[in-house]
Amino acid sequence: MCKMNNSVYDCVIIPLNKIHNRAGNITIVEGNINIPFDVKRIYYLYDIPGGEDRGGHSHKELQQLIIAASGSFDVMLDDGINKKIVKLNRPNYGLLVVPGIWRELMEFSSGSICLVLASDIYNENDYLREYNNFKSFRNEH
Ligand code: TYD
Repeated sequence: MCKMNNSVYDCVIIPLNKIHNRAGNITIVEGNINIPFDVKRIYYLYDIPGGEDRGGHSHKELQQLIIAASGSFDVMLDDGINKKIVKLNRPNYGLLVVPGIWRELMEFSSGSICLVLASDIYNENDYLREYNNFKSFRNEH
């Protein structure tokens, strides 16, 4: 299984297209066309109280594209060795989060919306919600 060679450096910003006219902008995401996976689920976080963090987990298999559809927030990524923080603040850029990466979302601006495109339907068995379990998983795979 090569996927657990995944590092935070595989979590890249993907520039998305933006079609602009006088009535505003439109950005289109098409699975396996401008992102590297098919989209099976979409969810979004909103009405996030000031100072709250979200995330705090890893996935074993799931791939995600995280977009600041409105406002801004920071994504802290951790592969068990390296960490990096990515600021998202434009709706035409997505952050690819590959499997096996611990992530925490923080510093949400007021009224921000975090849009997540996911490669699979919800499966609690795919979650690693305890950091120690995440570390063990990384060591074992
Ligand atoms: P969770 O993944 O813990 O949120 P976050 O990591 O953003 O803090 O999910 C919060 C709750 O929503 C939890 O009870 C699981 C549920 N949930 C679903 O039922 N389906 C989903 O697709 C997602 C993402 C969460």
